[in-house]
Amino acid sequence: PLVLHVLGARPNFVKAAPVVRGLAELDVPQGIIHTGQHYDALMSDVFFADLGLPEPLANLGVGSDSHARQTAALLTGLEEVVLEHDPGLVVVYGDVNSTLAAILVCAKLGVPTAHVEAGLRSFDRGMPEEVNRVVTDSLADLLFATSPEALSHLAREGVDPAKVHLVGNPMIDSLKAALPRLDAKAVRHRLGLPEHYAVGTLHRPANVDAADSARELVAAVAEVSRRVPVVVPLHPRGRERLAAAGLVTGERLSVIDPLGYIDFLSLVRGAALVVTDSGGVQEETTMLGVPCLTLRANTERPITITHGTNRLVTPAQLPAAAEKALADGAATPSGDLPPLWDGASGPRIARVLAAWLRGDNLSP
Ligand code: UD1
Ligand code: UDP
Repeated sequence: PLVLHVLGARPNFVKAAPVVRGLAELDVPQGIIHTGQHYDALMSDVFFADLGLPEPLANLGVGSDSHARQTAALLTGLEEVVLEHDPGLVVVYGDVNSTLAAILVCAKLGVPTAHVEAGLRSFDRGMPEEVNRVVTDSLADLLFATSPEALSHLAREGVDPAKVHLVGNPMIDSLKAALPRLDAKAVRHRLGLPEHYAVGTLHRPANVDAADSARELVAAVAEVSRRVPVVVPLHPRGRERLAAAGLVTGERLSVIDPLGYIDFLSLVRGAALVVTDSGGVQEETTMLGVPCLTLRANTERPITITHGTNRLVTPAQLPAAAEKALADGAATPSGDLPPLWDGASGPRIARVLAAWLRGDNLSP
């Protein structure tokens, strides 16, 4: 039976690559459906190239719209493509609208599903991703957890523990595989940055969609840039609002297009500090030992705080927190990393999927 991976957005590609590779090594027939939720070359194509992902079987081209309209287009497109390919299993990743739509379509069609990155919770239903996470986990047949606290979250929501597998973090597999190709110096030179610099990324709706929060955030980042030059590879979401709020290239602040995966990780690896509201970047900085200040009130990835370099900050706290992080310097990537963040999550997931496809009894 065919395994279909449904991917739509930048972080999906990074999480799927190790699983696709793991299944290929086990000779499991598989294919990718790209929903087209992300479509700019720098939000999509560059990841397929950098991660060595195979060409998708189809791209549904759903593009951007309101949540309802985008999800509706995803549902319609995915139903057709799932019926056409008749997969034995559909694998979905993370918490984006493409993930939600795929799990819903498969649940209605009676097609079994697996969710990679199950059980993360911010407990903030105001985040679109939290809604997607809760619904996805309630419908998935196999759930792959990246972090131990996910197990208790899922148990509390009534998910049968027999369906859940703690496998570590495939995003870390991708990072580890990329390490030999990272060249911070080359990217830094290309971007005209000094040796000591900070990287910023911003795209959460709660931060960038309203003029007030955008202004507050931009003022805080500008303050940091007085202490250390900051480069911001900017997600297209909120670009105009942030520019209107003053996030524009100046002497010590450089606002650039999103970077490809290898370029971005190269830049992060060489950075003295990262300021972000991304989910995945909290995990990557933990792995790389780069101090990370997360501009959010909560995180679904608390393990990056307890076992890593991450700290949650308000815009008001950012300048002082940045000052301190820069003074304290880089953390050594510790022996105390989250369990199973070892670069072998993709093969672990692939083994469970292959066993499930064979009909093996997976109960512990
Ligand atoms: C989506 C995910 C979010 C994830 C992020 C990763 C949902 C609900 N949100 O947010 O969880 O953190 O991806 O990057 O699924 N745009 C472009 N070009 C593109 C893609 C988007 O210009 O290739 C712009 C459009 O103006 C669009 C906006 O970005 O309206 C938002 O895109 P969308 O896919 O709706 O959500 P993201 O903010 O990217
Ligand atoms: N990323 C990238 N280029 C960038 C910004 C991020 O390659 O300019 C990568 C980053 O390394 C991580 C992923 O994109 O692997 C995270 O995606 P994003 O922050 O968009 O989504 P989130 O994790 O918040 O859902």
